[in-house]
Amino acid sequence: MARKKIIAGNWKMNMTPSEAVELVNTLKPLVTTEDADVVFCVPAIDIIPAIEAAKGSNIQIGAENMYYEEKGAFTGEISPNMLTDVGVKYVIIGHSERREYFAETDETVNKKVLKAFEHGITPIICCGESLTQREQGITIDWIRQQIKIAFLNVTAEQAASAVVAYEPIWAIGTGKTATTEQAQEVCKAIRECIAEIYDDATAAAIRIQYGGSVNADTAAELFAQPDIDGGLVGGASLKPDFGKIVNYK
Ligand code: PGA
Repeated sequence: MARKKIIAGNWKMNMTPSEAVELVNTLKPLVTTEDADVVFCVPAIDIIPAIEAAKGSNIQIGAENMYYEEKGAFTGEISPNMLTDVGVKYVIIGHSERREYFAETDETVNKKVLKAFEHGITPIICCGESLTQREQGITIDWIRQQIKIAFLNVTAEQAASAVVAYEPIWAIGTGKTATTEQAQEVCKAIRECIAEIYDDATAAAIRIQYGGSVNADTAAELFAQPDIDGGLVGGASLKPDFGKIVNYK
């Protein structure tokens, strides 16, 4: 069965709640495709107004982060129940910015992934290498390590429904998109790694995105690759250009 594309915006720490409503309203008529799942991952405080604004459209609102405990003394964190209570179905886990600035590790990523599945939230699991790692030729080894730890104790059924976002750190927010060949090579390696951990059917079902300076000019070629099932889009998701990315064909 063909995999449905999934194109997700990652707003990062941008947009106040009122700006969020405005942006959803601007983008709503531009992203009406049936061919792809369209997800806007937004700051926690924007989730409720964005869901309201997106009503009646095909836009699904996701979160950018979630904690791995149910509740309690974790000042500043968002629990899975808080997300599901308002209808959130996707959450970005382990973005490289969270790993770099907020000390997330492969182990905490794994805990969050397990917790998201426990609550029926689809994790968008991020992985990616630094420029040094790429230059040293250890990209695939590094990504395989990230994937193997992220999926510890995740069942095949859960893995089949997961989304992985391959985002080379050197391509994020830099305007330097990975070449189509580089992106396809790593996304293929991720699928092979999933086949090794689970089986061919799980590998064939899991959706793998590319992220890192995706824009209206690069989306079509990237998303046409056999192992690239859409994108995780930062900067360009805040602009009408996101409509062009969603309608890349
Ligand atoms: P970018 O961000 O598209 O602005 O490079 C992508 C991401 O960090 O998810």
